Amino acid sequence: MKTIVVTGGTSGIGQALAYTYLGRGDQVVVLGPDPAKGRTFLDAARKAGAGDRAFFIEADLSLVSENQRVIGEIGARFAAVDALVLCARYFRSFRAVTSEGFEHNFALYYLSRYLLGYGLAGLMDKADAPVIMNIAGPGAGAAGIRWDDLGLERGYDGWQAMFQGGRLNDLLGVAFAEGGGGHRARYVLLFPGGTRTGFAGDFDPATAAYVDQMKQAAQPVELAIPPIAAIIDSPPREPLSAFVEGMPLSLLRPAFDKGAAARLDGVTRELLRDRLGIS
Ligand SMILES: NC(=O)c1ccc[n+]([C@@H]2O[C@H](COP(=O)([O-])OP(=O)(O)OC[C@H]3O[C@@H](n4cnc5c(N)ncnc54)[C@H](OP(=O)(O)O)[C@@H]3O)[C@@H](O)[C@H]2O)c1
Repeated sequence: MKTIVVTGGTSGIGQALAYTYLGRGDQVVVLGPDPAKGRTFLDAARKAGAGDRAFFIEADLSLVSENQRVIGEIGARFAAVDALVLCARYFRSFRAVTSEGFEHNFALYYLSRYLLGYGLAGLMDKADAPVIMNIAGPGAGAAGIRWDDLGLERGYDGWQAMFQGGRLNDLLGVAFAEGGGGHRARYVLLFPGGTRTGFAGDFDPATAAYVDQMKQAAQPVELAIPPIAAIIDSPPREPLSAFVEGMPLSLLRPAFDKGAAARLDGVTRELLRDRLGIS
């Protein structure tokens, strides 16, 4: 029996993956901000006779402190983690800052993934074939990163924030695979293709209309799951891989630049140290 940890596991792609692995007899730990959705997951698991393998940890993953708490709880309850599936994100048309001082996309879409990946890497070392599945939008180029304004204080735009978050996750994957403290988990960056999910967010009217249109044209969630599950079940040999709609993506792109990855890693450590005293 594997142990699968899923962020954003109460909606969309994360939820579908959570139920898939529960249905296969694995142990599934869902992380989410909404206790009612957590109860729904646990109730459904109980009804399916899988109540003893389903876990929900309520957490606002946009907060560093919450990520740290979750890492501690998982470490205290589970002997190993086979797969960490990163699906939490929240679109914001209007800029927001967390109580810890980080721009919200940066905090939830990037920083949480950074913290959980490194924070659970030790537990993942204890699994047979551990994999970190970072679901975002790999490969679109590093040009979109505003190195001098990562929190997008000047001229914030929701789409730019989301795309920059995707770029940061590409570099996170590169840094983890390059150094990563010698951990065993394979790092996978994956774009699932346009998928009809809740697309959680706080939208201005124009963006809301556009997102509705996008959803009409998108694939149903069920179609997004098999290629993702196939990679989780049989992780690549390489420390880092990227996939776009099931097809492998070359890592010889600027998006996966090792120098930029090291730079981001350094900036992230500095931010965590200077703002929150974390080293
Ligand atoms: N759908 C697509 O077309 C598409 C395309 C490209 C990439 N992706 C990527 O695929 C992944 C999953 O996307 P999706 O469309 O399935 O997402 P989704 O339906 O919008 O779900 C997002 C999840 O994030 C959770 N979340 C939001 N704020 C949170 C917070 N502060 N703390 C913890 N969790 C929080 C939500 O919780 P609740 O359940 O409580 O709302 C929800 O479960 C994302 O990383 C996305 O970037 C999706």
